Amino acid sequence: MIVRFPVVDLEGRCLLSAGSRLDSETLQALSSSSPPEIRRGAPITIGDYGSVRRDLLGFLKEPPYRIIFDEGSIRFLMGAVMDGCRFPLPVLRSLGYFKINDSYTYRHILLVFALSSILGKELLEDDRDWIPEAMAGHMHDIGKVSVPVPILQKTCPLIPRERAYLEHHTVAGFVLLCHYLGDGKHLAARVARDHHERRNGTGYPRGILLEDRLVEIVAACDIYDALISQRPYRDAPYENRSALEELTHMARRGELSWEVVRILVAYNRTPRPPFQECTVSTERRGKVPKHNLYGVVAEEDEPEEDT
Ligand SMILES: [Fe+2]
Ligand SMILES: [Fe+2]
Repeated sequence: MIVRFPVVDLEGRCLLSAGSRLDSETLQALSSSSPPEIRRGAPITIGDYGSVRRDLLGFLKEPPYRIIFDEGSIRFLMGAVMDGCRFPLPVLRSLGYFKINDSYTYRHILLVFALSSILGKELLEDDRDWIPEAMAGHMHDIGKVSVPVPILQKTCPLIPRERAYLEHHTVAGFVLLCHYLGDGKHLAARVARDHHERRNGTGYPRGILLEDRLVEIVAACDIYDALISQRPYRDAPYENRSALEELTHMARRGELSWEVVRILVAYNRTPRPPFQECTVSTERRGKVPKHNLYGVVAEEDEPEEDT
């Protein structure tokens, strides 16, 4: 794979320049060149970094998360998950970066982290398997540190080059996590690279068939939170009902599995049914927001760059 845009870390160092080939030799070099503070320093739990614990608790009080997260889920999240997920400091610093530069992404990554943790616990057979799942959730968009902030915050349609730059966050996240975690096979690195892939191969960056259930859980939580959140490119978020209907239609088209969608629907119901017994209607009754510019690509005057 050729990297189309530079991959830049939080300190502004260029790890890979545009046009570099991302092969096993490059990955090996990236993995073995992690910063000294990572090799020497003890990992820190996510709950002890900055105001993460307090901020996340605040986000979970807003609808629809206050329905999804009952008391037991919050206890699990604030205890076992927060204490079980340890990361090198530079990885956690990305949270601080987003809090300052892109508050939408900060809120989004914490909510995807929380949601994928409880869905992972519910769906995975081994009780301890939720740990890598939880660890991966809050780093899925870490590659956005390599995307210029004005592109992240643009309120009008992106031009093709900007769109490609935004999609670059998947590959950039993979490269950054190979570097920071010293392991290209770490679930978090795979999630960063593959969370925009779809089961029927219609996603990016590689257009592969998304078959890994762990990655798919994060992908579904990512879509759900993106739909129901305030975004720069539309006047209002999706209503919760229309967001769940959108996910249902993605399952119908083969982009997501029914099981993952069913569990999200079950968590939105009170009283909550066992997700295996939860029926999902394919009828569309919710309202989709007006002026939603997502995916709309503007004309580009400059010629595309040859790479
Ligand atoms: Fe993403
Ligand atoms: Fe995301």
